[in-house]
Amino acid sequence: MKLKLVLASALLAVGLSAGAQTVIKFSHVVAVDTPKGQASLFFAKRAGELTKGKVKVEVYANSALYKDKEEMEALQMGSVQMLAPSLAKFGPLGVKDFEAFDLPFIFDDTADLHKITQGPIGAALLAKLEPTGIKGLAFWDNGFKSFSANTPLKNVADYKGKKFRIQSSKVLDEEIRSVGGIPQVMAFSEVYQALQTGVVDGTENPISNFYTQKMHEVQKHLTLTNHGYLGYAVIVNKKFWDGLPADVRGQLETAMKEATVYANKIAQEDNDSSLAGVRKSGKTTVYEPTKEERMALKKAMAPVHIKMADRVGKELLQSIYKETGFDPTKL
Ligand code: LMR
Repeated sequence: MKLKLVLASALLAVGLSAGAQTVIKFSHVVAVDTPKGQASLFFAKRAGELTKGKVKVEVYANSALYKDKEEMEALQMGSVQMLAPSLAKFGPLGVKDFEAFDLPFIFDDTADLHKITQGPIGAALLAKLEPTGIKGLAFWDNGFKSFSANTPLKNVADYKGKKFRIQSSKVLDEEIRSVGGIPQVMAFSEVYQALQTGVVDGTENPISNFYTQKMHEVQKHLTLTNHGYLGYAVIVNKKFWDGLPADVRGQLETAMKEATVYANKIAQEDNDSSLAGVRKSGKTTVYEPTKEERMALKKAMAPVHIKMADRVGKELLQSIYKETGFDPTKL
């Protein structure tokens, strides 16, 4: 593995000095027509333009190259250079601080979220990735998750005994258990089939993922719980990144800044149009919970914050609560 990396770096150096093109493979697991799918293509276009063709970004959507867990390993090995995994994917890497983003109801809205992702706490979190050979470049939004199942999800009792697909996250595991559900970890690319065959009863997604994976075809009920956040950290193989000529790296940083503005601008629009698509399909009943129903879910899930505080980091959580005003002990 090490030899491969050395070889890759050597080839890169030779290639660049000879004026050859550097290829960045950017792999992700969602559909093209999602916030991440569109933002990665935007980045690829701007990277090509700003580097005047010195860098070519190849985007591989829909788990075409790797499934969730494998893509992180591929990045660390240098088989791909860039990813934008959901923030839940960093806990299994050992950087448990990122699990804060999985905590239910921790952000009320995007304004609260951006205080963290676009501020100093976000920057400090990205820096924590460096010992794993990963350089964090930016946070990209997707949106807030909602629960779906084949039976209505109105009251907390409706979650009891149901199997829900989750990403591999101890916090998400506790979230499902807090309402009496049974969590089942599964790769994103396998969710549609698992729902179709009844391996799991339900799941949680931002609507853009729900719709573009056609989950509305295999889930009769979607409740707009907006109970948790799903977004991304754009990351690169650190050795690859540090090995780029400074001017090229600077141009890519500019492209990434622009792509981040673009991603965060289209994320809400994309989720809104996906919801319209779900409604129009007539295949899933979309339910908007009452204030009281949503509050009951929030209260039921609040203990997850207390239970996970030591694992995620008490200090980090306090600094987030201070910015957003959330207090799990006062529900
Ligand atoms: C998931 O596994 O549900 C998400 O990480 C998919 C994604 O990248 O949006």
